Amino acid sequence: MAKRIEVSGLHAYYGQVHAIEDISMTIEPRSVTAFIGPSGCGKSTFLRTLNRMHEVIDGARVEGKVMLDTEDLYGSSVDPVAVRRVIGMVFQRPNPFPTMSIYDNVAAGLKLNGVRGKGKLDEVVERSLRGANLWNEVKDRLSRPGAGLSGGQQQRLCIARAIAVEPQVLLMDEPCSALDPISTLAVEDLVAELKSQYTIVIVTHNMQQAARVSDRTAFFNIAGTGKPGKLIEMDETSKIFTNPTEKATEDYITGRFG
Ligand SMILES: Nc1ncnc2c1ncn2[C@@H]1O[C@H](COP(=O)(O)OP(=O)(O)O)[C@@H](O)[C@H]1O
Ligand SMILES: [Mg+2]
Repeated sequence: MAKRIEVSGLHAYYGQVHAIEDISMTIEPRSVTAFIGPSGCGKSTFLRTLNRMHEVIDGARVEGKVMLDTEDLYGSSVDPVAVRRVIGMVFQRPNPFPTMSIYDNVAAGLKLNGVRGKGKLDEVVERSLRGANLWNEVKDRLSRPGAGLSGGQQQRLCIARAIAVEPQVLLMDEPCSALDPISTLAVEDLVAELKSQYTIVIVTHNMQQAARVSDRTAFFNIAGTGKPGKLIEMDETSKIFTNPTEKATEDYITGRFG
């Protein structure tokens, strides 16, 4: 299931604003890659270029290349909706469909893909909720609204919803920033489990979290207001946090700025 992402020469714009400049990197399958860097350096923008969500914004465009194994995601015959199906996303604020039941939240994507039949749906809903470490907490209230869960449970519900359609890549944009420490640990444990099957990218403001959950870390920075964000360095997480090559990375991880 997991696939490799290879980005080359990627730029993203919002109208005239050049948001990220010339990014090239490889994101390895069956591992966790963390994106760190100060606010506004383009982490979320870059993440959204990886599943063609950036261009949903009016006036937004992308230059450069993103390969998912051998498929060029920006190729002229590629359907962006299909890309978003194989590269799932989990957002900063848990966003379950509020009036839908827990069950339907998880089953929504499958139904959209034309899966019918209660047996099949039941099976995938249970597998996805188990996969998201949520099954035991919700199995007796599957028909209740997703909005009735705690924040941490809602985020795991969103992860269950994302993995229900069996994506090849999971992009997570600060998935724990709205969660308490216990829920944060639950999500981190989950990420550690999921990486055996998926290619995972996680944006985080929390340095300890990047160090705990990721195999590789990419540090992004911005030279000043109005300047585009850039990838400064990417390496094994242990190297980035103990002996980075770039001074800007060291300043950031030691808390000297950002
Ligand atoms: N929808 C948008 N329209 C215009 N500019 C945007 C939009 N979203 C982000 N930006 C700009 O792009 C730059 C990068 O933002 P973002 O990707 O959100 O950074 P980060 O996630 O690292 O905080 C910032 O200058 C931000 O103001
Ligand atoms: Mg962001």
